[in-house]
Amino acid sequence: MNTSISEHWGSGDVYGRIIDAMKASSISPETVTIEQLSSVDHLHARGFPATVELADALPIKAGDHLVDIGCGVGGPARYIAKRFGCKVSGIDITGPFIDAANRLTALLGMQDAVHLEVGDAQALPYGDYQFDGGYSQHVTMNIADRDRFFSEAFRVLKPGAFFALTEHGLGPTGSPHYPCPWSDDGSGAFLMIPEETLRHLGQAGFTDFQLVDTGEKYLAGYNRAMELARRGELPSFGVQLLLGEGAPAKIANAARNIAEGRTHPIQVICRKP
Ligand SMILES: C[S@@+](CC[C@H](N)C(=O)[O-])C[C@H]1O[C@@H](n2cnc3c(N)ncnc32)[C@H](O)[C@@H]1O
Repeated sequence: MNTSISEHWGSGDVYGRIIDAMKASSISPETVTIEQLSSVDHLHARGFPATVELADALPIKAGDHLVDIGCGVGGPARYIAKRFGCKVSGIDITGPFIDAANRLTALLGMQDAVHLEVGDAQALPYGDYQFDGGYSQHVTMNIADRDRFFSEAFRVLKPGAFFALTEHGLGPTGSPHYPCPWSDDGSGAFLMIPEETLRHLGQAGFTDFQLVDTGEKYLAGYNRAMELARRGELPSFGVQLLLGEGAPAKIANAARNIAEGRTHPIQVICRKP
């Protein structure tokens, strides 16, 4: 496992920090809801609204068993499990995130529906043909071996299953500014232009690609977060809790990277034949 990538994302008592911020915002851990947690536990550009839009576009049925690759602290897995009445299993390389994910899942009483564990997306701890669908939101920026990542996703899916991917692809200008959410200095960052991502997905066996350019929406989301911060109105129970002290600089660079064509955020939905 690549410890520097997991250390970049989360160290120490992540769960404790979430609970402290929850209490400081007068939310009780005993009665907290999925909706109240959603401002913190969807750790990707645009947060919860982006998960909702992705879920709207997926053919998920009640009773399905899905895989969430790079599940973070589990917000998307819990939301999708509850919304569709399905089961979600997931892995993430960052131990403190999985600890927080499992304790938050327990707070919500969702342990029967959501199973999250520490693991590397490039070697999934699942058998072949297990899942009715899979998704990975904003993980591949840190994946050195795309072919292994995509062939592992392909392997664990049943024939006919969907696979959804969101990521910051590399833009035509290249050379993203750092620090940004997935890397402080460019180490552990492996961005790829969207055409290359589709080529690697196709090489793994996926077909029927639906590609959406999400740049404008993400840029608007980052700009809104920066405007709220400027006005001192950013909610203290927010995703910046997980991005750490450097959050304002990371968010500013993420916005600048999109505006300058250095990154190219996309959403891809495809299928295992
Ligand atoms: C931007 S966060 C997204 C988390 C989650 N998908 C979400 O949307 O809330 C990126 C996540 O990818 C995870 N990650 C990075 N490299 C990974 C790998 N090789 N295997 C599994 N998880 C990885 C990080 O630990 C982090 O939780």
